[in-house]
Amino acid sequence: MTVQPQTGVLEGQPASLPMLDVAGLTLRFGGVTALSDISLTVKQGALQAIIGPNGAGKTSLFNCLTRYYKASAGSITYLGTKLDRQSPAEVAALGIRRTFQNIRVFPRMTVFENVLAGAHLREVSNLAAILFGTPRTRRVERELRAAADHWIDFVGLSDARLRPAGELAYGMRKRMEIARAMIGEPRLLLLDEPAAGVSSVERTALADLIGRVHASGVGVIMIEHDVELVMNLATDVCVLDGGRLLATGAPEAVRNDPEVIRAYMGRRRK
Ligand SMILES: Nc1ncnc2c1ncn2[C@@H]1O[C@H](COP(=O)(O)OP(=O)(O)OP(=O)(O)O)[C@@H](O)[C@H]1O
Ligand SMILES: [Mg+2]
Repeated sequence: MTVQPQTGVLEGQPASLPMLDVAGLTLRFGGVTALSDISLTVKQGALQAIIGPNGAGKTSLFNCLTRYYKASAGSITYLGTKLDRQSPAEVAALGIRRTFQNIRVFPRMTVFENVLAGAHLREVSNLAAILFGTPRTRRVERELRAAADHWIDFVGLSDARLRPAGELAYGMRKRMEIARAMIGEPRLLLLDEPAAGVSSVERTALADLIGRVHASGVGVIMIEHDVELVMNLATDVCVLDGGRLLATGAPEAVRNDPEVIRAYMGRRRK
């Protein structure tokens, strides 16, 4: 399936079909309610930001979307497909990829190998062919290696291609994680605090990179505390607080929402 980059609408899909439709999503851990009756629609072509204080439930929402966590109640529909039985690997194969708040890299493997590792989910059904080394497998492997180089270049890490990932500066690792997600050819990319803890120079590079990913037609949902970055990049913003959806809408409207200002904007992050 291809996308029309200008609109981000997927070919063969009506524009009115939401990328994501979350209805009544609730997630409890014993006595803690991490998500409380969240209903949210993300349209195709959106760059949706999720903001909210620490412990608001932002990462939990990603974990439900990717089926790392099983919701206690409610439903998630992705391009018309209900995500209720799939494994995380199956969700990835459907075109949802993510990066993690706490970076996950293979430190002794090179950037190239780390990015290539992101491709295996794309070929999950072809394990037998990989094991038996058919001509088709060799062609696929060539293509994946070319794709890894393409995405390494896209995120600006060509010079670091053969360096162990553990040696990279933090911001570079964050970009590598995006390349590793992109090699899976996602239709929806989930970024959990892509700019947290990076230098201001790297932050600008990351903002540019996320903008280019989005412009290429990939739907993006980004958890981010940096309000300026959110306001510059996002088409839509939603605010979580204490597991509840506090507000959702265009960036400016959300920024000026008195309840949001009270709950979040005026409060500095720990
Ligand atoms: N696996 C888990 N077991 C128990 N409680 C959990 C688990 N995951 C999340 N929680 C709880 O759910 C709530 C929401 O956590 P979550 O990590 O989703 O917040 P967040 O908005 O991502 O916060 P931060 O900005 O600090 O990353 C917190 O109270 C947290 O302690
Ligand atoms: Mg989090």
